[in-house]
Amino acid sequence: MTDAPELETDRELVGIVAVADNGVIGRDGEMPWHLPEDLRHFKETTMDHPVIMGRVTHEGILEALGEPLPGRTTVVLTSRDLETPGNAVVARDLEGALEAAERAADERHGGTNRLFVAGGATVYEGFLSSLDRLIVTEIDDDPAGDATFPERDPETWREVERDDRDGFSFVEYVRKE
Ligand SMILES: NC(=O)c1ccc[n+]([C@@H]2O[C@H](COP(=O)([O-])OP(=O)(O)OC[C@H]3O[C@@H](n4cnc5c(N)ncnc54)[C@H](OP(=O)(O)O)[C@@H]3O)[C@@H](O)[C@H]2O)c1
Repeated sequence: MTDAPELETDRELVGIVAVADNGVIGRDGEMPWHLPEDLRHFKETTMDHPVIMGRVTHEGILEALGEPLPGRTTVVLTSRDLETPGNAVVARDLEGALEAAERAADERHGGTNRLFVAGGATVYEGFLSSLDRLIVTEIDDDPAGDATFPERDPETWREVERDDRDGFSFVEYVRKE
């Protein structure tokens, strides 16, 4: 196992994910549910911040929106030579992604204190031990899927906020000291 990549500053590294009861987060490159409230929540939470994601998730967003997430800087993890528009940058490894996100926070997002990690499965896995906070949409369902959120040790995370809705909840966790 490699060491957890660490931020050079005291910024918060925040994971944001929608996850079903059975741990599923994706199917065939998409989310297995249609939840406009969650998409709004994601947009409001991440707006004007750097957002790190894997190449597969990035391509899913390009397919859905025709462009990277507006108003944010997308840091795309990939080993490929991708062409990216102005509001997206490529990173080759987890450390490089953190550096690119820190740079974007300073240069494009007013020095914001938060950097987001927005999936998919391989990217959550890579960063899980580095995350300070998790913003989770917990979905009351057990859909079929091929991408799951990595196992979380309940001893590591303390719930600090919960907003129960119809069929899902917005929940926030912080890493215990
Ligand atoms: N429910 C949610 O909140 C949520 C959020 C995001 C995504 N998803 C779902 O998750 C699924 C996609 O997840 P995924 O795990 O298949 O793909 P992914 O994590 O989005 O992308 C995987 C790719 O990212 C690159 N990558 C990952 N780690 C890297 C590293 N350490 N260094 C360099 N490159 C790295 C590699 O790209 P190359 O192959 O180009 O080298 C790898 O193939 C989709 O179904 C999507 O809808 C769900």
